[in-house]
Amino acid sequence: MDKLMISGGRPLHGTVRISGAKNSAIALIPAAVLAETTVTLDNLPQLSDVAIYGEILSELGASISWHADEMIIDPSGMRSAPMPNGNVKKLRASYYLMGALLGRFGEAVIGLPGGCNFEPRPIDLHIKGFEALGAIVTNENGALHIKAKELRGAKIYLDMASVGATINIMLAASRAKGSTLIENAAKEPEIVDVATLLNSMGANIKGAGTETIRIEGVDTMHGCRHSIIPDRIQAGTYMIAAAATRGDVTIDQIIPKHMEAVTAKLQEMGVKVYEMDESIRIVGQPEYNHVDVKALVYPGFATDLQSPMCTLMTQSSGVSVLTDHVYGSRFKHIPELLRMGAKVKMEGRSAIIEGATLSPARVHATDLRAGAALVIAGLTVPSGRGITEVTGVEYIDRGYDNLVENLTSLGAEIWRETIKE
Ligand code: EPU
Repeated sequence: MDKLMISGGRPLHGTVRISGAKNSAIALIPAAVLAETTVTLDNLPQLSDVAIYGEILSELGASISWHADEMIIDPSGMRSAPMPNGNVKKLRASYYLMGALLGRFGEAVIGLPGGCNFEPRPIDLHIKGFEALGAIVTNENGALHIKAKELRGAKIYLDMASVGATINIMLAASRAKGSTLIENAAKEPEIVDVATLLNSMGANIKGAGTETIRIEGVDTMHGCRHSIIPDRIQAGTYMIAAAATRGDVTIDQIIPKHMEAVTAKLQEMGVKVYEMDESIRIVGQPEYNHVDVKALVYPGFATDLQSPMCTLMTQSSGVSVLTDHVYGSRFKHIPELLRMGAKVKMEGRSAIIEGATLSPARVHATDLRAGAALVIAGLTVPSGRGITEVTGVEYIDRGYDNLVENLTSLGAEIWRETIKE
């Protein structure tokens, strides 16, 4: 296992190119199961979760090949083999196999998912959706057995605008008989990306990106080529890192519209933000205003950027308040930031953050975005104060491809070391 070593105090400078979105990729790969012929996905991020998803599809009989950042998926030989254990337990997003296999084969047996467990993450709304479409769902020894004689379109209201449930229902409903209406659907750009792929495969989905999505089921779906949207969470992480180190960084190959909530908050803090067609330049400032941030569903401030933002808020003057309305207890980065000298206290669902100069420490990432927060914290430690060590790198590797290389090219002093057992 590796750890990251960071000698901070160097403002980031230069340009970073953002890869395809992890949270799209891990829905688009299983979506390809619904086709009868080859699907080519390009602009894929080079991440462990993406590689594992490729292995899972191979285990189910798909033929997978790679060409640079393209994954070529031939699902023609697939079957719905039970997958109660193994690779499915390594990924949160293995739940998308449920909707995809159900849509194509009318049945799925999938172990309950693993992944970043910063708090209990139920999938009751996914199950409610499958049941509404006519499936019988049972939990047998930690694996969901999902079976439908025939999937029939239905009207489904989601109690929470869940990204996963919205996508899973779109997957299964694409090949159901008749019309499905998802109300209070999630509106994240990744939902639109999945709907775009499914429509290119022959599905009939309207309204993705709004709170009402209508799906007319189709009998067959075919292969196509699809380019994945840029990763807005990686982009936001670099925007925040640039501001936190008082750097000057252009974040390239992104969709600036997807970044509006983070752009607005950075501007409120006093960061200079310049928007171009496909890039955003961040120019850090010596002093920042305190701000209040509420993590909400899209187009609100993303919960996935809440932890990196928490680190940036330690760099402002005055008292800031950070509340997560999506995951009320996603605050495992805070005890680690406290080790580094951050002044943060919890009040209910909110972190109350005072400005502070951070010091180096040995800290542990308990999930992907907490890891990003700790790396940024290490980068802000003034030069000459020592080395910050971040363990739990396997989480960070799930969502940030080439993080060390990218930060190094922006002038950071960061490297990997192997932890001796
Ligand atoms: N929820 C339920 N029941 C459900 C599903 C969700 O109560 O059946 C609740 C959750 O507990 C949460 C809220 O609804 O409070 C929203 O959860 P959602 O279903 O939208 O999250 P998800 O689909 O499991 C995806 C991303 C997360 C990201 C969230 C929110 C993937 C694989 N994961 O999770 O990404 O935080 O949407 O945007 O796409 C990450 O990338 O670090 C990450 C955790």
